[in-house]
Amino acid sequence: MRIIVLGVDGYLGWPTCMYFSQRGHEVLGIDNYFRRNAAQELDCEALIPTPNLAQRARVWKEITGREIKISIGDIIKYEFLLSAFRTFEPDAVVHYAEQPSAPYSMMSRDKAAFTVSNNLIGTLNIANAIHEVNPECHIIKLGTMGEYGTPNIDIEEGWLEIEHNGRKDKFLFPRQASSIYHTSKIQDTDLLWFYVRTWDLRVTDLMQGPVYGISTGETDLDGRLLPNFHYDEIFGTVLNRFIVQAVAGYPLTVYGKGGQTRGYLNLKDTMQCVYLSAIQPARAGELRIFNQVTETFSVNELAEKVKDAGNALGYEVKINSIENPRKEKEEHYYNPKYTGLLELGLKPHYLTDEVMKGIFSLVERYRGRINREAIFRGIKWK
Ligand SMILES: NC(=O)c1ccc[n+]([C@@H]2O[C@H](COP(=O)([O-])OP(=O)(O)OC[C@H]3O[C@@H](n4cnc5c(N)ncnc54)[C@H](O)[C@@H]3O)[C@@H](O)[C@H]2O)c1
Repeated sequence: MRIIVLGVDGYLGWPTCMYFSQRGHEVLGIDNYFRRNAAQELDCEALIPTPNLAQRARVWKEITGREIKISIGDIIKYEFLLSAFRTFEPDAVVHYAEQPSAPYSMMSRDKAAFTVSNNLIGTLNIANAIHEVNPECHIIKLGTMGEYGTPNIDIEEGWLEIEHNGRKDKFLFPRQASSIYHTSKIQDTDLLWFYVRTWDLRVTDLMQGPVYGISTGETDLDGRLLPNFHYDEIFGTVLNRFIVQAVAGYPLTVYGKGGQTRGYLNLKDTMQCVYLSAIQPARAGELRIFNQVTETFSVNELAEKVKDAGNALGYEVKINSIENPRKEKEEHYYNPKYTGLLELGLKPHYLTDEVMKGIFSLVERYRGRINREAIFRGIKWK
């Protein structure tokens, strides 16, 4: 297959490129370095230094003999994106290239506006480029479980059959976001659903939970191939953040009561899910939605797991319940379905002590780079 990965400099994008390349596919990665620049601007740079994309593609070639093509540019610029589609002629596009942080989207009006325009125009441009160049090209889009919010009913995989006044129909599962970032992801799904109905595009929308870890078969080949690993309040995901906090001797930042429950997955499983979706594409005119998680935990459960793993390694991990800067339910019902990807062939890597030890040991290597100021700033939703 010929695959374009949008957002190749990202936590998920770079490992995905290598994953496809290693399995013999032709890969073009695109990024505009938004995340690197934003992290620098906000003084919350990733824990592990990552060479730029041209350098990383060279390292990949040196080690594997395989080529990953790189193009630096902004997918909001339609002519740029269109020309990439025209010259590369992809069979599938993996779309990660978005502003991915809820706190970032809540920092100011300008950052909220950037998030909405960056994410929505990017998605709109991709749908249009595919319609112009090759409507058969499969879009694999990263959504988020946060689109559903925390409803007091079971969360289905994307769709819900509703009976109303004696008649039935199937609709997108009700969505209710808890940040402007999550709202932009809901609107992405709506846009794609419109283009699927109107232009018969093929789309897989992956409702992903927070990802943890940094090890994949490919990132483990060389330290220079590791992706960005954020532990700060703005770009870090919760488990990665808690492990860095444990190593830094910083009490784990549990927001409020800590009963917030979400579905999680290992970075290795993101690779599998995206790959399995690519090799078994959606049909023309189908918006296929999967819930991309492998197990659920409350924040308290995660904090306890990190505390136990850290203490076993000789740390004295403390947990601190702090005032919740977000507006969200701290105790709630949560029961998402997630069988679709298992049916495609996903073999989950669960959160074991071994996996946690692996993340601890990597973080320990870079502990000198931890910026305590970046761990918690209390970006408020109010
Ligand atoms: N990491 C997670 O836990 C997680 C969970 C659920 C969903 N997601 C979704 O997965 C996707 C990837 O997440 P990530 O953690 O790898 O984020 P990331 O920020 O590390 O990667 C996204 C990349 O996209 C690039 N980008 C953003 N806007 C762009 C534009 N207009 N043009 C070109 N490049 C652009 C950024 O520079 C960045 O390198 C995002 O859409 C995110 O919403 C991530």
